[in-house]
Amino acid sequence: MIKRIGILTSGGDSPGMNAAIRAVTRVGINSGLEVFGIYNGYKGMTEGYIEPLTRDSVSQISNRGGTILGSARLPEFKDVAVREKAIKQLKKRGIEAVVVIGGDGSYRGALSLTQMGINCIGLPGTIDNDITCTDYTIGFYTALQTIVEAVDKLRDTSNSHHRCSIIEVMGNRCGDLALYAGITCGADIVITKDTGFNEADVLDRLRELDTIRKKKHAIVIISEKITDVDEFAKKVSLNTGFSGRATVLGHIQRGGSPCPFDRLLASQMGEKAVDLLMQGIGGQCVCIRDNKIVSYPIEKALKMPSDSRKPLTNLFERLI
Ligand code: F6P
Repeated sequence: MIKRIGILTSGGDSPGMNAAIRAVTRVGINSGLEVFGIYNGYKGMTEGYIEPLTRDSVSQISNRGGTILGSARLPEFKDVAVREKAIKQLKKRGIEAVVVIGGDGSYRGALSLTQMGINCIGLPGTIDNDITCTDYTIGFYTALQTIVEAVDKLRDTSNSHHRCSIIEVMGNRCGDLALYAGITCGADIVITKDTGFNEADVLDRLRELDTIRKKKHAIVIISEKITDVDEFAKKVSLNTGFSGRATVLGHIQRGGSPCPFDRLLASQMGEKAVDLLMQGIGGQCVCIRDNKIVSYPIEKALKMPSDSRKPLTNLFERLI
């Protein structure tokens, strides 16, 4: 039976990571384990920036955004020599297993460590909702709420000035933040990597909203990394009756107090991670599927093709 576990947060932070840290720490301690915080992700693991966590050190954090452990991206962790250095730091402290909270890059590190003898469990901490094996990632709904609040505000001002607001949201290569925001904000157009972006078609549609539907404003939500939204806004002003204005929501989407769903999800997933490690299981990631907390092999999770978003895309189309 293991005695000591570590926990780290890695990659882009997400609201709810602290609730997961608290859950792993408290469930771990209440199950007789010693729990260590590994600071700044795999970087801190390699450098030995590792400190014990207590019940008190994780008190009053589940309402806080960000991560008390800090996070980093460390591409060098794919080098076996770097991982060996990290494993030495863990062994020096008697840490036998680790909970890794992050996205797919963090999962790759967790899998490699497991293959080298340190059991790791991955928790999906990212606002992007881009880990296919789980219905939702920790932080997604809080980021969505931030977007919805911003779009509601933009709608007010757009409506007063006969404007088209083009709002760029995060998501890396995943369109979920844009699509869910499109439905919940009542946007006119959603553009993601799945919908594709045909500039001429979008301008046509905006002209139709202006001249035929007589709309006072238009809302376009677009995933990041698709087009230059400032340039596109200029084209909207030139080619439609709306004046175009672009807003890039950026890192605001990553911050803020996690919503109750993310706190609950993080707590349930943290509990599951500790239970798996105590059973001697590693190389798995925790998921929520059909409202049940389950686990899935990381190796398979990384290769899983992304789910079709057809039903939600169809719903969006039927709502406009
Ligand atoms: O993965 C989370 C995320 O916020 C993505 O949505 C975005 O593309 C990326 O991280 C931004 O990364 P950084 O914080 O390193 O600029």
